[in-house]
Amino acid sequence: MDRLRGNDRCWCGSGRKHKKCHGDVRVLQRPPVQLGAVSAPREVPAEIQRPDYVSVGSITTDTGYQVHTPEELERMRVACRVAAEVLSTTGAAVAPGVTTEELDAIAHEAYIERGAYPSTLHYGGSRDYPKSICTSVNGVVCHGIPDDRPLAEGDIVNVDVTAFIEGMHGDTSATFCVGALDVATQGLVETTREATLRGIAAVAPGEPLVRIAEAIEPFAASRGYSVVREYGGHGIGRTFHAAPHINHCITPGDSQRFETGMTFTVEPMLTTGVDSYRQAGDGWTECLVDSMPSAQFEHTVLVTDVGVEILTVDSSGRSPAGTLADLEAEATPA
Ligand code: MF3
Ligand code: CO
Ligand code: CO
Repeated sequence: MDRLRGNDRCWCGSGRKHKKCHGDVRVLQRPPVQLGAVSAPREVPAEIQRPDYVSVGSITTDTGYQVHTPEELERMRVACRVAAEVLSTTGAAVAPGVTTEELDAIAHEAYIERGAYPSTLHYGGSRDYPKSICTSVNGVVCHGIPDDRPLAEGDIVNVDVTAFIEGMHGDTSATFCVGALDVATQGLVETTREATLRGIAAVAPGEPLVRIAEAIEPFAASRGYSVVREYGGHGIGRTFHAAPHINHCITPGDSQRFETGMTFTVEPMLTTGVDSYRQAGDGWTECLVDSMPSAQFEHTVLVTDVGVEILTVDSSGRSPAGTLADLEAEATPA
């Protein structure tokens, strides 16, 4: 993949070298995120339905393609709408001085108000994820655990929400800016949002899965970013993580085809520096080895008769992760 280099002209059209513009390491570099103290898991009222991994302690639902009857699809729409609403509510609370634990508390209430269970809470069997959302700050690439670290001006934080309601999971995330942000980090965030929407827009029945990666990886590279290879999207519905695995990096042999009625996520992580990471001692938080910022957006989507529909939108059809209408309105030349 031809990745824009430091001495190339920046992608933004400023005429400056990339390394003096959106690729300026001195601006992008952040100290490693210090992990804080994690409080006790929050309680969920007994009347809210739990997923099987919580109620019986193991996954009993099918992990194959998640294709839906019309009745199931209606339930899937509810789960996805709730996830989008929880994401908007939580994202609106992002500000300097707010801790990620406070974001978790806001999200937790928002799920419960809607009768939903936070899918991540006690997910993962023996590893038992302890919180109701994931919050990944700066060089944390994914699966950050909400803790008592206050967000600082200039940070970016990905908030990842998964709601379980009416027997279905809906999964969506967005990266939010904390206070005023430098243009280089803003460029990463905006490019990641656009890359996610471009990946989604490439979905159509009968096309091979690789179309998503073909839309994402070269676009990211043209702006000097890497795409994390190991973490992909996933089928979702009755089961949180199901088939197919969705690669965001071009992978030979990715020739299975999209089928009408399938639901899955698209959720690329873009990095400004290297794309190698290590897991923290908590068994979840994935930290980039160079602590350079990374961003991620995620939607749950449905393959329709003619193309694709984003399911993780609120009742007005909007989302902090953007929509296909936003992509049409804002798309920039690759
Ligand atoms: N929501 C994440 C995803 O997009 C999964 C988080 S699993 C957790 O697939 F256990 F880390 F919370
Ligand atoms: Co997901
Ligand atoms: Co998610």
